[in-house]
Amino acid sequence: MSQRNYVNLVVTGASGRVGRLICELAGADEQHWELVGAVAHPRSASLGKSSFTSADHATVITPNYGGKCDLVIDFSSPAGTETAIHIALREGAALLVGTTGLPDATRQVLEAAARRIPVLIAPNTSIGVATCAALVEMAARSLGPNYRVEIVEAHHSRKKDAPSGTALMLADAARKGGAAMKMDQIHALRGGDVVGEHIIRFAGEGEYIEILHRATSRSLFAIGALRAGQWLVRQQPGYYSMADLLKSSPT
Ligand SMILES: NC(=O)c1ccc[n+]([C@@H]2O[C@H](COP(=O)([O-])OP(=O)(O)OC[C@H]3O[C@@H](n4cnc5c(N)ncnc54)[C@H](OP(=O)(O)O)[C@@H]3O)[C@@H](O)[C@H]2O)c1
Repeated sequence: MSQRNYVNLVVTGASGRVGRLICELAGADEQHWELVGAVAHPRSASLGKSSFTSADHATVITPNYGGKCDLVIDFSSPAGTETAIHIALREGAALLVGTTGLPDATRQVLEAAARRIPVLIAPNTSIGVATCAALVEMAARSLGPNYRVEIVEAHHSRKKDAPSGTALMLADAARKGGAAMKMDQIHALRGGDVVGEHIIRFAGEGEYIEILHRATSRSLFAIGALRAGQWLVRQQPGYYSMADLLKSSPT
């Protein structure tokens, strides 16, 4: 990272629902961020447009980025993640991947990249969801095998992957706590404009416990991604998750 107070940031997926919010927040906070690159699909209708609305600055949306940077934040598509990996490796920059539904091959490339740069994979960048994952692991451990775990998630109808990456991550958290979790215990609902809802239910004899996370605005993903990005640029090369961020900088 450069010897300055602010981070040179590239956003891939800059014209998307989440990427646009990240560009707006980073563009409005000159003390901590310089948005040096805003990348969208090579055939995006947004190419050439400004990635945020400040009157003084314009970081124009482009199909790739060839300059220097400290951090790449990716909220795009599996193909867009490939572009993000390429930029981060070329610049020795930290890489935060929020894109979900990544194929195994891309995950392997990310694991290999993590030997050279700090890489954080976050199917959900909300600090609240990371906290829920810690609660799920603890609940699974203390309730034991007689409680059946079911995860129900709901998202807007345009979401491409099902079940959500967050539901899979929460299932992993339950497994870490010792719960047996099969795919038929994860249920995905699609429709309307639901930003994101996850219910993790532990059903036992005579009681059930539910942990619920409801996203009411996409800004929580952008806020969490930027907070995690500030942390990530200070880490050594390695493969990180939001749980690592929570452990090293408790709220
Ligand atoms: N980690 C989290 O907390 C979190 C939260 C919400 C969503 N997500 C995930 O983040 C991803 C994006 O979500 P979204 O709702 O923002 O989607 P979206 O609105 O469809 O935006 C996708 C963005 O990626 C760009 N893009 C697509 N293919 C690309 C490519 N090959 N190269 C460069 N850019 C490319 C699109 O460009 P154009 O559309 O302009 O062509 C657009 O800017 C999804 O995988 C979603 O599941 C993660």
